[in-house]
Amino acid sequence: MPPLVTAGECKKLISMMAECCRGERFMVLGGDCAEKFAYCEGDYLSKQCEVLFQMSAIVQMMTGKPTLTIGRMAGQYGKPRSSPKEKVEGYGEIYSYKGENINGYEPKDRNWDPNRLLEGYWHSAATLNYMRGLKADASEMEGLFKSVDMEPLKTSPDFGAAAALLEASIKSQAPVLAQGCDIFTAHEGMQLDLEEALTRKASDGAYYNLSTNLLWIGDRTRKLTEGHIEYFKGIANPVGCKTGPTMKPEEIAELVQILNPNKIEGKLMIITRYGAGKVKGILPAHIKAVQATGVPVVWQVDGVHGNTKSAKGGYKTRALDDIVAECLETLEVHRECGSILGGIHLEVTGQRGVTECIGGCCGLGEDDLPRQYETYCDPRLNYSQALEAAVRVARGLNAPAAAA
Ligand code: PEP
Ligand code: CO
Repeated sequence: MPPLVTAGECKKLISMMAECCRGERFMVLGGDCAEKFAYCEGDYLSKQCEVLFQMSAIVQMMTGKPTLTIGRMAGQYGKPRSSPKEKVEGYGEIYSYKGENINGYEPKDRNWDPNRLLEGYWHSAATLNYMRGLKADASEMEGLFKSVDMEPLKTSPDFGAAAALLEASIKSQAPVLAQGCDIFTAHEGMQLDLEEALTRKASDGAYYNLSTNLLWIGDRTRKLTEGHIEYFKGIANPVGCKTGPTMKPEEIAELVQILNPNKIEGKLMIITRYGAGKVKGILPAHIKAVQATGVPVVWQVDGVHGNTKSAKGGYKTRALDDIVAECLETLEVHRECGSILGGIHLEVTGQRGVTECIGGCCGLGEDDLPRQYETYCDPRLNYSQALEAAVRVARGLNAPAAAA
């Protein structure tokens, strides 16, 4: 089958990520934890692009800095799980849901089925086709900015006035914001057999994974001697690696040298996800270890995966305050270490009424979770919480170093 993206797009992304590395651009990466094949549908996809574009527009308008938008889209179909099996009433012990490429969410569909890999290819292709159409249509793109709705934020005593102004300027600037607006795709490169099948030699002689623009290694599969690092060091795409609290400074130093031996700016992104309150204890040593290698990296903060907790009724949730706190703590540590935070990584949905995360101006609490809890994997910020996260992070980016 033909590749889904081109090597030239991947190279363009590297050059834009190099700008994030130097602090000239800020990256907003987001989307579903696990994309469902059922999300491959016009309305859902345009809402996903809408929320990501609007988050980027917020950061851009508030900071005056250009942004880079990347969707966890068109291939986020493989999930690492903490436990391979789970007990489900009426079914006994069954395989955990591992994403649409592997098995189905319904208990009866939990057996692994390789035919799903082919389904994954077609759903990625249809998703990308839709995204490409959207990008090429100026009036559709304008519409995605004009629809910005910051209603719950406008009621906040703290930033209500700013939100009202921001909403009005995004609407009036929609034609300008829409011009040349781009979105790239990314997914966790977890299933090496699949990723390998979509790896092709490009005309520049290098090998690219042409199923997506950017791939990252998950926190559970980043061991230096294992297969994922081996595969990732052979591809010319921009690549990311998640680093959780168990990462050691000497290990991250080795990792960045393996994944970016030629010290190419924009080629390698380190995605830190330690959890709010833990950043100051862990990140400085990681930054110093990387600085000592001379390898340039784009530092991105994943504000969500270190902040998942269990709520009443067994719902997995996250508090918006924790997510924002981790982003701002990370920003502050980079400033103190003479380093640059290049972007954020969040799990978000463009769906308005979703109740999976708590907090924010929309006022969701634990009791609201059952109302519209729809995720098939991790809890996502809903539309209004996602815009609020963008506003609060952008405010931190603007604040003088000491006040952030
Ligand atoms: C994810 O990004 O959905 C994920 C599983 O993250 P991590 O590898 O950081 O746990
Ligand atoms: Co997740």
